[in-house]
Amino acid sequence: MKKTMPLLQRESVSDHTSKLERLFEDELKDIYWAEKALVRALPKLLRNVTSEELYKVLEDHLTETEDQVVRIEGVFATLGKEPKAKKCEAMAGLIREAEAIMSHTQLGAMRDAGIISAVQKVEHYEMASYGTLRTFASTLGLDKAVSLLQENLDEERAADSKLSELAVSAIHFEAAER
Ligand SMILES: [Fe+2]
Ligand SMILES: [Fe+2]
Repeated sequence: MKKTMPLLQRESVSDHTSKLERLFEDELKDIYWAEKALVRALPKLLRNVTSEELYKVLEDHLTETEDQVVRIEGVFATLGKEPKAKKCEAMAGLIREAEAIMSHTQLGAMRDAGIISAVQKVEHYEMASYGTLRTFASTLGLDKAVSLLQENLDEERAADSKLSELAVSAIHFEAAER
């Protein structure tokens, strides 16, 4: 005799899926807002950087961030949805924090070190978001979305590790200047 899932259980599975899909879409709106806010905020950080290496890392990451916005639009497309942004309070706070660091430091090695620390917090928020989104997409069987989100996650990780290397040299530079 063919085994079939009880009706109630079948309904609860599809209910569960649609709830997860809603959560996925909500989180996607959040990171979409965050990435677009970063496209606007990074040029201001660039104007405050003195280290050439840091400038290059942030400039490259600005280009990547613009590509990430396009990939997120691709993820919305896999859901058959128009891309929509919802204000991400966490990212708004992290950007405010970066602005505060710039206003409390003088142009030079100290401000560079402060910018590195602020951007690394941003990268970690993004890594956490993309890690979760990728897991949700994989649970929902959205293979194309999984690979788009993985690409964004890989770029955030790479940017974070480049910044970690620069943080070490920025601290050494500051110590040598004293
Ligand atoms: Fe990003
Ligand atoms: Fe990033």
